[in-house]
Amino acid sequence: EMSPLPENTLIGMCNPLLDIQTTVEKAFLDKWGLKENDAILCDDKHNDMFSELTRDFKVEYIPGGAAQNSLRVAQWILNAPNRTVFFGAVGKDTYGDMLASKAKDAGVNVQYQVNDTVKTGTCAALINGTHRSLCAHLAAANTFTHDHLQKEENQKIIEQAKYFYVTGFFITVCPPAILQLASHSAEFNKTFTLNLSAPFISQFFFDKLSEIVPFVDVLFGNEDEAAAFAKANGWETTCVKEIAVKAAALPKKTTKPRLVVFTQGPDPVIVVEGDKVTEYPVTRLPKEEIVDTNGAGDAFVGGFLSQFIQGKGVEASVACGSYAAQEIIKKHGCTVPTTCKYH
Ligand code: AP5
Ligand code: NA
Repeated sequence: EMSPLPENTLIGMCNPLLDIQTTVEKAFLDKWGLKENDAILCDDKHNDMFSELTRDFKVEYIPGGAAQNSLRVAQWILNAPNRTVFFGAVGKDTYGDMLASKAKDAGVNVQYQVNDTVKTGTCAALINGTHRSLCAHLAAANTFTHDHLQKEENQKIIEQAKYFYVTGFFITVCPPAILQLASHSAEFNKTFTLNLSAPFISQFFFDKLSEIVPFVDVLFGNEDEAAAFAKANGWETTCVKEIAVKAAALPKKTTKPRLVVFTQGPDPVIVVEGDKVTEYPVTRLPKEEIVDTNGAGDAFVGGFLSQFIQGKGVEASVACGSYAAQEIIKKHGCTVPTTCKYH
């Protein structure tokens, strides 16, 4: 018999990936057809790139995967284990074990679907100056199946949870699983949150995304993702505030007003609640304190949700999001200092 989950548990679902991080020249990105600041899925032609990286470069292996990053950060702030549960698929290998142990160390309750035959997914995180190019090789993560959520143990977790966080990235993997959590959330008046994740999701998976949006109570994204979402909707604007207002007003399954939270790097965070627009300024980090921004957006979401699931208001949630993002910017990848000084 499983003990009841702590109150207001947050479930996250996404691709658990091991980041292979290194610094590269622009020429390396050109060679592999990568943009300086982008997030894409790799194709077969990138297999040799991964070999070249691990052979010729000094690489760091860092736990990654967007939602898993956010949950680790949320746990770090909450400082009480098992407030978050993670669903995603890994392989039966050392990378998968590494991801599980890092997540557990952080206090995340990982409920992986383990694939015996496909390797754990990786993500090349290629740092070039202040930019980063992400090239994800989903592998086992791509084999997640909807029936994992039907397992009795997982059904119990879903029934007890109050908050859900799914990334747009997961739309390329298993929309039925997303819709299952989303409709459960709507049915029981819980809170379902989604990240736009990357421009390519709006560009190439817009039909699936549009099926999920009506269930979304909180929508996260950055300015590039907002622009791609606007374009896919046929909205002729690049104004982030205007896009946020329109996104908040899209049809919704439940009566709760939709919250839209768009970050813009060092520029103010735009929040729309119903039809009310608020800008929250960001305290700029001095250049010498910036190590890399890899994971800043994920950390922002982790910090935000750590407060939001405790019923704290939007202002407190944004403040904690910004705090968490800044801590992550001061370190390599999406890693946190050992102690959390946030109160
Ligand atoms: P990545 O996209 O790098 O992380 P991110 O968290 O989204 O970081 P970004 O740098 O893109 O930030 P953002 O633009 O979202 O946020 P913003 O700059 O607005 O993703 C990393 C992870 O993605 C990897 O671990 C990888 O594994 C995973 N991944 C890749 N592909 C995947 C896939 N297919 N499936 C699953 N996972 C995948 O900043 C946010 C906030 O930070 C701001 O609001 C502000 O508070 C703060 N901030 C930013 N810049 C500054 C500054 N200069 N000074 C002060 N504060 C700042
Ligand atoms: Na992001």
